[in-house]
Amino acid sequence: MNNSTAIFQLRQVSKSYPGAVSIEVLHGIDISINQGEFVALVGPSGSGKSTLLNILGLLDRPSSGVMEILGQDCTGLDDAGLTKLRGRSLGFVFQFHHLLPSFTAEENVFLPMLADIGHFKPEMRTRSRDLLGRIGLEGFETRPVSSLSGGQQQRVAIARALIMNPVLVLADEPTGNLDRASGQQVFEFMRQFNRELGTAFLIVTHDSNLAARCDRILTLVDGCLMDGNTNSETCLKGD
Ligand SMILES: Nc1ncnc2c1ncn2[C@@H]1O[C@H](COP(=O)(O)OP(=O)(O)O)[C@@H](O)[C@H]1O
Ligand SMILES: [Mg+2]
Repeated sequence: MNNSTAIFQLRQVSKSYPGAVSIEVLHGIDISINQGEFVALVGPSGSGKSTLLNILGLLDRPSSGVMEILGQDCTGLDDAGLTKLRGRSLGFVFQFHHLLPSFTAEENVFLPMLADIGHFKPEMRTRSRDLLGRIGLEGFETRPVSSLSGGQQQRVAIARALIMNPVLVLADEPTGNLDRASGQQVFEFMRQFNRELGTAFLIVTHDSNLAARCDRILTLVDGCLMDGNTNSETCLKGD
């Protein structure tokens, strides 16, 4: 690893979507995320935040550039390799929680672990209950998630994102669908897990108050990352 604490590195990553006219939506992005960092990603709608998060989350591949996770170059990995790496190193929280509504809170939380191991183990339930307790949902473990409030559901989604003990959680507008108070609470719990477990977070948000409370703010404009020091674009557009 070049930098002993860098868990994620993107070098000159670009992304084009093919079509009648190929459109480049990310232009030469350089990002380094360190162990335990709590980073905000902000930018206007359409600037490429979700595209970047999908690439960091190994859900989509860059069109060019290099990407390293924990010092391992993952540019050349096949789909099975990416899926394995994703399941063991990354957690996801989305704007809409994507929980299974008729399953209980604890079942939703341990599902990624069940998928990884292939059969049920009692420790899955124990770990799931521990995470739910830490996120203020003690007593809600065996409730179907459809009976929980929006904020509670998003807290279940955060516990689910942490069940495999990932190095990095990617959260795409996790408070975007919540009222202000529930959004604040969800943010505080992510911050708390970051401090207690040392998990790094990259959070897309439109809320400047929340962004200001992160360790660092990355700003995307038109598919370019703004240079935090000079407020100028540091990449060259490919089109
Ligand atoms: N699958 C896709 N195919 C073609 N264009 C896409 C696709 N996904 C996103 N885009 C385009 O890429 C740009 C960035 O989108 P997105 O990453 O969703 O931005 P943000 O999350 O910042 O709103 C937009 O112009 C969008 O229309
Ligand atoms: Mg988006």
